[in-house]
Amino acid sequence: MTFSFTHLTSALALAAGLAVAPMMANAAESEGIVVYNAQHEALTQAWADGFTKETGIKVTIRNGGDMQFANQIVQEGAASPADVYLTENSPGMALVDANKLFAPVNADTLAQVPETFKAADGNWVGVAARSTVFAYDKTKLKEADLPKSLLDLADAKWKGRWGASPAGADFQAIVSAFLELKGEDATRAWLKAMKQNASPYKGNSVAMKAVNAGEVEGAVIYHYYWFGDQAKTGENSKNVALHYFKNQDPGAFVSISGGGVLASSQHQKEAQAFLKWITGKGGQAVLRDGNSFEYAVGNGEASNPKLVPLADLQAPKVEPSKLNSKKVTDLMTEAGLI
Ligand SMILES: [Fe+2]
Repeated sequence: MTFSFTHLTSALALAAGLAVAPMMANAAESEGIVVYNAQHEALTQAWADGFTKETGIKVTIRNGGDMQFANQIVQEGAASPADVYLTENSPGMALVDANKLFAPVNADTLAQVPETFKAADGNWVGVAARSTVFAYDKTKLKEADLPKSLLDLADAKWKGRWGASPAGADFQAIVSAFLELKGEDATRAWLKAMKQNASPYKGNSVAMKAVNAGEVEGAVIYHYYWFGDQAKTGENSKNVALHYFKNQDPGAFVSISGGGVLASSQHQKEAQAFLKWITGKGGQAVLRDGNSFEYAVGNGEASNPKLVPLADLQAPKVEPSKLNSKKVTDLMTEAGLI
C-alpha cells in the first residue's frame, strides 16, 4: 500500500515537474536578461542585485573578458543569447559598435552621462571609469625619481625596473589610447622599448604584488587595484604608492567601462532598463559606496571619497570609438609582448 502510494506520488511529481519546467523556462526568458559581463564580477553582481531588487527583472551574468566577448558577439551575430554587454574598457565596445550590433541607447539613459563618458554615436554608454597609474615602490623611489610621462618608461634607465600585464584588456586599452594620442610609429617604438624594459605579469594584481615584493620598482596598472587591496588587509600594497601622470599624458588615460544593449536582444525594454539603472542613482551609488573603487560617471554622481577626484586627473582627451583593439594587438604581437 505504502509502496504503491509512494510510486504514485513520485509519478505525479514527475509529471508535474515535466509540465512545469518548460513553463518556468519560458517565464524566465521573457522576464530576465542575459549579461555578457567583462567587468569585475563583484561589481556587476552588485549592480544586478540592486536592479533585480528594484525592478523584479532577473539578471543572468556570464563572465568573460572584454575582447573574448566582443569577438563572441561578432561571431554570434543575430543569434547571440546576450541582451547586454558590459566591459572594463572601451575597445571591446568600439568593436561591437563597428559591427553594427548595438541598439541605440535610450535617450533618458544617455542624458544621465556626460559627453566625455559615452560613445559619440549614442550606441553605448560609460558605466564606470578607471585611471591609469604608476604603482611604485615607495621604499625605493622618491617623488623626483618617478617618470614624468608614460613615454619615459621607454628610456634605457628603466630597463628591468617596471612591469605591466600586457595580455589584459586594461593594459591594452592604455596602449590603444597611446596609439590614438601619439600615432603608430611612436607606439611601435614605445612597445619595442617596453619589451626590453618591462616584466610581464598575468593580471594587474600580480603586477602590483611584484612591486610590493620588490621585484620591480613600479607597474603601469589601474588605480582601483591599490585601493581595493588597501581596503582589505593592504598586504599586497603596503610598500606601494600611486603616481598619477596627469598633464594630459597618455599615462593619465582614464578608461571608460562601457555598457550596451545588443540589437538582437529579444528583451529590449528590460535590457535598456538595466543600462538606465546602472548609470543612474542606484548603480552609481554602488560605485560610490562599494569596494570596486572605480569612478562614478553619471552626471552629478559622486565617486568614492577616498579617490583622487576625476576632475584632478588631467586626463588626455580620447574619443573612445577610435580605440583600435585590432591595431593594438597587431602592434603588441609584433613587439613580442603578447
Ligand atoms: Fe580591472
